[in-house]
Amino acid sequence: MRTGADEDLYGAASAAALYDETYENYRRYLNPPLARVMKMSGSPVEVRAAGSTITDHNGKTYLDFAGGYGVFTLGHRHPRVVAAVKDQLDRIALSGRTMFNPLMGRLAQRLAALTPGDLTISFFANTGTEAVEGALKLARAATKRPAIVATHGAFHGKTLGALSASGRDAFRDPFMPLLADVRHVPFGDASALREVVDAAVAAVIVEPIQGEGGVNVPPDGYLRDVRAICDAAGAVMIADEVQTGLGRCGVMFGCDRDGVVPDVMTLAKGLSGGVIPVGAYVARPAVWNAAYGKAPLLHTSTFGGNELACAAALAALDVLIDEDLVANAAQRGAQLLDGVRATMARRPAVIADARGAGLLVGVELRSEGYGGTIIPELLKRGVTAAWTLNQQRVIRLEPPLVVTAAEIDLALRAFDEAVAAAFDQLGVLA
Ligand SMILES: Cc1ncc(COP(=O)(O)O)c(C=O)c1O
Repeated sequence: MRTGADEDLYGAASAAALYDETYENYRRYLNPPLARVMKMSGSPVEVRAAGSTITDHNGKTYLDFAGGYGVFTLGHRHPRVVAAVKDQLDRIALSGRTMFNPLMGRLAQRLAALTPGDLTISFFANTGTEAVEGALKLARAATKRPAIVATHGAFHGKTLGALSASGRDAFRDPFMPLLADVRHVPFGDASALREVVDAAVAAVIVEPIQGEGGVNVPPDGYLRDVRAICDAAGAVMIADEVQTGLGRCGVMFGCDRDGVVPDVMTLAKGLSGGVIPVGAYVARPAVWNAAYGKAPLLHTSTFGGNELACAAALAALDVLIDEDLVANAAQRGAQLLDGVRATMARRPAVIADARGAGLLVGVELRSEGYGGTIIPELLKRGVTAAWTLNQQRVIRLEPPLVVTAAEIDLALRAFDEAVAAAFDQLGVLA
């Protein structure tokens, strides 16, 4: 049934014409191999979205359990964020940079109040990877040391500095040499970390829960150990909360799971309110002052902190708190994980593990091959899901924090059917 109006066809003559045009544009002008993979897995064209739902070119609706890889904490186009952005458009959209920007000041003040401890000084960019670049540069300038320690399987972004800290060889190898002296250790292993953090280390960068690495939850106390190891060596602790931050894991920040205050926290995805991209780091004043106290222009961004983005982020933080979405993430996350585990109990030949925190749930498959069937089968049943970028055996379920119990139930039913279909089609895979 078509629910979309003709304006959802973006001027194309028909739904099929819009699909053909978009596919051809991807194939010719964007990314030919990606175009083919998306076509093979049955990806439609997105034309409209609201809340937890995306509508495609045929008017079919999907529950968005890929969730923009964690962007849509408030769902798509939350009305309060849209209203704030529309209102801001009529005043000033991008900063002229030569005058004070009141919304950037207000957003920094809000983040200082929201983040733990004395994380009080913010820098704004537009993406997660830029937030990480900023944090790595800050640590190097503050400590005057060269080395960075990161974890296997980590995902910190794909610009050269962030990629150097990321932990998947397939993404790194074609770009060698990356930053010199980046040391990788197993995630969740404090002893291995202690071995490599010495007086040359500027920073240890770690995700509180590895998202793209396959939704890996470290042992309790790991972040406290990271904190202690950094303190002992005089290294900066960077918590990359681009994906885990702002309620995703059923707590405001992933670091809260261990009650730890890092020296620098990176944020992005959810801070956008799902409407305008925002990346940020928030730092302790001692670290920031050591780096930039006498050099305010060492690290800058033309677009970062623009008024539209700040209006979106300020509204997003209001909604997060007013709608108690962190608590909803915890409750709906438990429902989702329980449901996935029930399917795992029925299909042990397909699913090896289900884990996560809040609404960041990973489903580890016994073979990568199952994913290529489960994800399209889910799509057929009106649910989006996605692989984790650094671990193709893990499917992530990452719906908006506004998701309802009924929507989780619908998605779980589709998931159970998709897993059954994959097993029926593929049998036991080695
Ligand atoms: C933990 C983490 N850091 C950084 C990034 C990079 O963010 P972006 O894709 O906005 O550059 C991601 C993206 O998935 C992420 O999960």
